[in-house]
Amino acid sequence: MAFPQSFLDELLARSDIVDVVGSYVQLTRKGTNLFGLCPFHSEKTGSFSVAPDKQMYYCFGCKKGGGVVNFIMEEENLSFPDAVRFLAKRAGMEVPEEQGDRDAGRRRARLLELNREAARFYYQLLQQPEGRAVRDYLERRQIRKATAVNFGMGASLNAWDVLLTAMMKKGYTKTELLDAGLVVQNKKGGLYDKFRNRLMLPVIDTRGDVVAFGSRVLDQSEPKYMNSSETPIYSKRRVLYGLNLAKKSKRPNIILCEGNLDIVTLHQAGFDNAVASMGTALTVEQTRLLSRFTKELVLCYDNDNAGKTATERALQILNGSEFSVKVLQLPRRQTENGELVKQDADDFIKFQGPNAFERLLRGSENGIEFRMAQVAAKYDLNSDEARVAYCAEISSLLASLPGAVEREVYSNRAAELAHITPDAMKVEVQRARKRLTARENRAELRRELNPAAKNQPQERSLRYNNIRSAMAEEGVLRLLLLDASLFPAELPLTEEQFSSPLLGKVFSSFWQAKCEGRDVSLAALSGALSAEEMNHMAAVCQKPESVQRGKQALEDYIRVIHTEYQRRTGGATDPLLAATEKYKDKKGEKRNV
Ligand code: UTP
Ligand code: MN
Repeated sequence: MAFPQSFLDELLARSDIVDVVGSYVQLTRKGTNLFGLCPFHSEKTGSFSVAPDKQMYYCFGCKKGGGVVNFIMEEENLSFPDAVRFLAKRAGMEVPEEQGDRDAGRRRARLLELNREAARFYYQLLQQPEGRAVRDYLERRQIRKATAVNFGMGASLNAWDVLLTAMMKKGYTKTELLDAGLVVQNKKGGLYDKFRNRLMLPVIDTRGDVVAFGSRVLDQSEPKYMNSSETPIYSKRRVLYGLNLAKKSKRPNIILCEGNLDIVTLHQAGFDNAVASMGTALTVEQTRLLSRFTKELVLCYDNDNAGKTATERALQILNGSEFSVKVLQLPRRQTENGELVKQDADDFIKFQGPNAFERLLRGSENGIEFRMAQVAAKYDLNSDEARVAYCAEISSLLASLPGAVEREVYSNRAAELAHITPDAMKVEVQRARKRLTARENRAELRRELNPAAKNQPQERSLRYNNIRSAMAEEGVLRLLLLDASLFPAELPLTEEQFSSPLLGKVFSSFWQAKCEGRDVSLAALSGALSAEEMNHMAAVCQKPESVQRGKQALEDYIRVIHTEYQRRTGGATDPLLAATEKYKDKKGEKRNV
């Protein structure tokens, strides 16, 4: 993949970073820069900055940064070429495509088309006589026709190659069917349908594309659910089942469940804001996706141990996020013979009905209540020993709450539960809080006492091995970015004189841009640097640098780099000199050794 440089330059000129980022993040101007809540990690105070003069963004919290193309790559989950295409469309520019890219784009489009055809095929089978077994199953699960249609459900038959044959007849190749994960290959190389005799549940993304399939057996056999494998068009970390529908819901929040059929039942009962992570733990990518549609999440996982663990993990991922998070705990259900059994959202709706669910939803606890209940459940609070242990554990949980009022309210509740006075609990929490702050302060102090570590790149593989030189190298790049008139007339440094290969590479491309009369910018390097390299360059770029007396500063930096290079190489020939000498040689001039 390579777009012509002139095209990229024009694209950047037409895609102002403030406009582009501003359509995703609410930005407020503070001095020359703009600030907002970082879209790449969860936070309550804005540490995300945009520098219009440098056309770069940088988050002081998660340390991600880059130019406008990097932003779109991160935010829209796109590769570099796709992010470029995305921006080009936005700017109304035609993309000069190369043959290879056109092919890859076409292949993806073909796979999406194939999935849609397959979904249509399964859907039609469900309506036909052969779909009887699946229709009966839907009836057993009390799923109505309209609901099945709404979710685009279908039927796969108890046969080896109906889909394979039908799709090949439509012109899809065996390779395409394999790539889409719709057929699998046996040891002898023969192909057969992956999904057989199952209820088919197309997984539809928020754009409306069928990206994968989930499926359920009709009886007790294993595996109960079978889902598409990861394919060029499907990454399960980035998709939530039902979000294509839930994103249109008028309800104020989104309910997260474990199972596909929980979602189906909830939607059917009027909770059209439910989505499922399809049996896997909630991912950061999924929370980012959700943040486009809601500010409030309700976790409604199964009320067994696995579900509790999943809730705890989700709470950790969402900790400190701008989401307000609630936990809806489904009660256990009492069977006719008095046994208490676990139930999921689907069971609950069937046994207790939608109104009861609505009540649970309204009364659902916030994250801290859930965690406190988890701690309390560990102790038998009738024994003195256990009460002491409970207080010790709960006080450090309470100490981590950021707000003083929050700490007081929940401390009182914990005190009541443990039958101790609110004052005693308060003292415990204050102590725990002191320990916590002391620990944080020590960590901070360690960072401050070691400035070298503070200047090191986040990414290990980019670590500087000569800090003094690297600081000067960073300075050179910053100055040239800030003021292109500082470029010396002749090459002052070669790439190999840089102690950091990354900084050397960036310098070379700056120099080349300058020689070709193009703008010198980091944003233009989006295609040439990895995400980690770009994050680091954004960090370098946001450090303060003054262009007053810039010429002098530049000379000083260059001198440091030369000295450090000499020291490292034990006084080897200055490569710059060697380069000029060689140049002279070529011109046929005499070498004066
Ligand atoms: P559960 O086992 O809790 O199933 O799995 P469920 O949703 O209650 O299923 P029903 O009610 O028996 O139909 C929760 C989710 O985990 C994924 C599926 O997405 C399922 O909906 N899963 C489960 C799998 O991917 N594979 C499996 O074998 C089981
Ligand atoms: Mn279930």
